[in-house]
Amino acid sequence: MSRIGLFFASSTGNTRRIAKAIKKRFDDDTMADALNVNKASAELIAGYSRLIFGTSTLGGGQLPGVSTDCMGGGWEEFLPKLQDVDFSGKTVALFGLGDQQKYPDEFVDAMGILYQFFVARGAQVVGAWPADDYDFIASKALMDDEFVGLALDQENQKNLSDARLEAWLKLIAPEFGLPL
Ligand SMILES: Cc1cc2nc3c(=O)[nH]c(=O)nc-3n(C[C@H](O)[C@H](O)[C@H](O)COP(=O)(O)O)c2cc1C
Repeated sequence: MSRIGLFFASSTGNTRRIAKAIKKRFDDDTMADALNVNKASAELIAGYSRLIFGTSTLGGGQLPGVSTDCMGGGWEEFLPKLQDVDFSGKTVALFGLGDQQKYPDEFVDAMGILYQFFVARGAQVVGAWPADDYDFIASKALMDDEFVGLALDQENQKNLSDARLEAWLKLIAPEFGLPL
């Protein structure tokens, strides 16, 4: 099986640290090194059939990028480059970081924005995650009462993140061919 692509955008490094923790669980034949989207190209992404994308939500419901003080850019600048990439036949899993206490009306919104973008381009998005153990009001990442991917909150529920990540990787393992 071909390798899994792993890409993220991050401002203060929380999403980058989770991406690196994911990569650390697997060898180089299974998964490529986590790469910031500000160093990626559309061609590189198009070369993978299975992809994991991570994002924080910044600026009150926005994708990380220059306008939310994300140094070097983020999804805000990169998504337009993927505008014409066909994701049909590709499997995508998403993880998103946010702060449910400070931003209860926009919790992990950016993960929902990514979901809409990739589904609209034909991707099969897997890894929906239960929203039960969170305390928030609204999220663009909610669909049928579940998050469209793994939601992590390093500000308020950091102690739960390792277990959540492990359970989520097990959840997506069949589609991603992960040795778990
Ligand atoms: C200015 C600012 C705006 C934020 N807006 C949101 C938001 O709308 N929704 C949310 O869930 N989290 C929000 N957050 C919280 C971040 O998503 C959270 O701190 C995350 O862990 C940051 O990850 P990063 O360092 O990878 O960017 C915001 C944080 C900052 C500093």
